[in-house]
Amino acid sequence: MKILIVDDEINIRMTLKDILEDEGYETMMVGTGEKAVSIIGKENFDMVILDVKLPGIDGIETFKQIHNKTPELDVLMISGHSDISTAVNAVKLGAYDFLEKPLSMIKILTAARNIQEKKTLQNKVIQDENEQYEKYKFIGNSPQINEVLQLVEKVAATDSKVLIRGESGTGKELIAYAIHHNSQRKHKPFIKFNSAAIPESLVESELFGHEKGAFTGADSQKLGKLEQANHGTLLLDEIGDMDLSVQAKILRVIQEGTFERVGGNKTINIDVRLIAATHKNLENMVGEGSFRNDLFYRLNVVPVVIPSLSERRDDIELLSEHFLEYYAKEFNAQQKTLLPTAMETLLDYSFPGNVRELKNIVERLCILVTNDFITKDDILPHLMLQKNKQVSTGFSIDGTTFKEIRTNFERQFFQKQLDENHWNISEIAKQLGMQQPNLSRKIKELGLSK
Ligand SMILES: Nc1ncnc2c1ncn2[C@@H]1O[C@H](COP(=O)(O)OP(=O)(O)OP(=O)(O)O)[C@@H](O)[C@H]1O
Ligand SMILES: [Mg+2]
Repeated sequence: MKILIVDDEINIRMTLKDILEDEGYETMMVGTGEKAVSIIGKENFDMVILDVKLPGIDGIETFKQIHNKTPELDVLMISGHSDISTAVNAVKLGAYDFLEKPLSMIKILTAARNIQEKKTLQNKVIQDENEQYEKYKFIGNSPQINEVLQLVEKVAATDSKVLIRGESGTGKELIAYAIHHNSQRKHKPFIKFNSAAIPESLVESELFGHEKGAFTGADSQKLGKLEQANHGTLLLDEIGDMDLSVQAKILRVIQEGTFERVGGNKTINIDVRLIAATHKNLENMVGEGSFRNDLFYRLNVVPVVIPSLSERRDDIELLSEHFLEYYAKEFNAQQKTLLPTAMETLLDYSFPGNVRELKNIVERLCILVTNDFITKDDILPHLMLQKNKQVSTGFSIDGTTFKEIRTNFERQFFQKQLDENHWNISEIAKQLGMQQPNLSRKIKELGLSK
């Protein structure tokens, strides 16, 4: 972190320089406001320590010019007792804070540390934002999806709560991110909370955080997902799996914008946009009493329903191409092509697991098919059609590189064939449509034995 020190007294400049450099900060020093403004135009700083009383243009004028040029730059004002009101004015205009002379070195260092932490956090949000953008790209061009995307754009502009519904694997998480990314909050965190994925006893502390000593094992304070999402968006995923007691607390967050950390009694104010998602029928759950009626109405301000993949077949081709490209990159391999008959097979298929299933099928094909072209026969075993033809079940896909995964799969596959057919090589070769010598070589290569 680089800090610019602006003071006309050489003693103060030198003292500040020494203690800041001792802490590992890089510093530069100037004696006038004019010099400060000019050097800020040429070099990047993370913080400025600025004296109020300066020869030439004074501290407040210098601050205004700096702030005008680089509004993001944090400026800490320092002033003698008689100039305090000027320093306070600067803070009102956007300066980071002010300190009174004689300077407390601890306060200077604390300010520097806080600014550094803020920077680190900001950088992390930007990095997360870029990563999330790649991960959450939503593909689709069918009329049904275009309608959903139009709705997304409309609700994104507002701050209202959204309930996203759709079968498992239809892309609810992606749509939630799309809403965040198109909203005013796009540069703030997008945080996901899934109560179904967490042991019941930890749900509250994950969501609301806890104070030190709140329960055995809570050896330090921890911020919950809600606080991590402050000023941003929180996705309450699988909301249908949330306990009634947690539902009540969420309702309070919605109504009052407040909550307490587990084991704490300080009421915390929060500004978070809530998006909920579920594949469950919440109306039925309300009827049964397992979901709060009032929460349902609060969340269901704007319902967004994502149609199942079989209701929007126009997207199958586009998605398949997208995933072929995606996995070719991921596995660092040549991109494969689906032959027309293979594509037709996919277009005819029902996809009970929706886009997730299509994505998984393409991933498996990219791993298992050795040719550049994918045929109908390559695909059939992976569809939930005739159970007896399925070779996909029962095999684990282990390994990190494409080669490892393929070898692991081949080992499991051939071992199973051999065991089931009592090592009758010619019979197995016939069944698999392989040349017998090739099969024998494969068995040797993989080191299989009875
Ligand atoms: N339109 C799409 N474009 C690209 N990828 C998609 C699309 N829809 C879904 N996916 C991918 O499919 C998988 C499932 O999507 P997602 O997790 O959003 O589904 P979901 O509706 O939340 O399912 P569940 O109810 O099971 O949580 C993810 O890997 C996602 O990247
Ligand atoms: Mg989901």
